[in-house]
Amino acid sequence: MAYQVIIPAAGQGKRMGAGRNKLFLTLETIPVLIHTLRVFEQDTECSGIILSIHPQDKESFNELLTEYRISKVTHLVHGGKERQDSVYNGVKVIQADGIVLVHDGARPFVTLDTVHELVKAAESSGAAIAAVPVKDTIKKAENLLVSETIERSSLWAVQTPQAFRVSILRKAHEYAVEEQFTGTDDASLVERLPHKVVIIEGDYDNIKLTTPEDMFFAEAILKKRKQLG
Ligand code: CTP
Ligand code: MG
Repeated sequence: MAYQVIIPAAGQGKRMGAGRNKLFLTLETIPVLIHTLRVFEQDTECSGIILSIHPQDKESFNELLTEYRISKVTHLVHGGKERQDSVYNGVKVIQADGIVLVHDGARPFVTLDTVHELVKAAESSGAAIAAVPVKDTIKKAENLLVSETIERSSLWAVQTPQAFRVSILRKAHEYAVEEQFTGTDDASLVERLPHKVVIIEGDYDNIKLTTPEDMFFAEAILKKRKQLG
């Protein structure tokens, strides 16, 4: 089933502390963003990539797209102040209805199995997200004083990709602008419509490269994949 993907790549990478957008950092000599783009470049079901970038990165990203022969980027749009703005600028250029995925540039380890399951689920229910069961016990606290232990079996750690019918994602973003709501993921905007969101169990390897130690975890994941062939 065909889908398009919006990839927000317009962040500053502050927590990574690399002094520039972390998506330029390399894993086994290849930039993080290229690892992510290659997943969709090689998927015959992916009909186009909408890349949301900061204007300051435009020239460097364009050079990378040429060097690594990434041919599916149909639109380069400007990112915004928040991730949500960067995604919305991507939503605005989509013409037809259909299925759209939103996937962080900083998650290079997503698998096509997960992508295809999400597309299928979004096709039938309108909105689906990748998530994994939480492994840690999570407590709520104020001023370092525990107020509650949340039943772990009901908790999911949410990732991207998140898949939507285009009309639903567009409506959710328009509504969030109206209500001046900023969420940390796209599904939270869809939930507010309200519209149901289905979970597809993903993979613990699908980490977001956020802080410096994540680069070591990423190298380990690549090594594991090579050993498993
Ligand atoms: N992103 C974006 N536009 C923004 C902020 C983030 O497109 N205004 C993108 C990032 O490039 C990344 C994804 O959203 O691919 C997830 O964001 P995050 O991990 O927070 O990356 P950064 O915002 O770059 O990092 P930090 O928050 O540490 O500055
Ligand atoms: Mg950020």
